[in-house]
Amino acid sequence: MSDRSQLISTGEPFQFDKERDAEFERLVKRYPTRESMILPALWLTQEQEGWISQEAIAYIADRIGTFASKVYEAATFYTMYNLHPMGKHHICVCRTLSCWLRGKQEIIDYMRDELGLTPGKKTEDGKFSLEEVECLGHCGTAPVVQVDGEFHENMDVEKFKSLLATLK
Ligand code: FES
Repeated sequence: MSDRSQLISTGEPFQFDKERDAEFERLVKRYPTRESMILPALWLTQEQEGWISQEAIAYIADRIGTFASKVYEAATFYTMYNLHPMGKHHICVCRTLSCWLRGKQEIIDYMRDELGLTPGKKTEDGKFSLEEVECLGHCGTAPVVQVDGEFHENMDVEKFKSLLATLK
């Protein structure tokens, strides 16, 4: 999660399931070129697997008819794409200036001390994974945490603890 240049191999071939396959075919008709499908195809993969493996990159490139390097570039550039297996609940903490000044580190420290969870890792039980990310676009309500894609603003350790307690 921290090193976004390294892809992980599952050692197994990847392909879309029936539902994503149909969605790919539906979407591809809406774009002027097949290469425009790189980002949607990465989303479909993440929806299906929770993350994007080396094999998935090769599959998407093949399916679209482009170079794997182009799919790799997109997948590694955008931090919304997970390049490692995630925990059941994936936590992103913004590390950019406003969040940094307003206490994001206290939340990170809490996870390290209470859950043994550090950026780029999963808890032993696989329940949580953590990543520090760049600005999430809600700087006026920093610090901002995103859990399973949902934004939580004006966070502090107490609010964060309550939030974790709601996650099964
Ligand atoms: S700096 Fe954290 S949301 Fe912008």
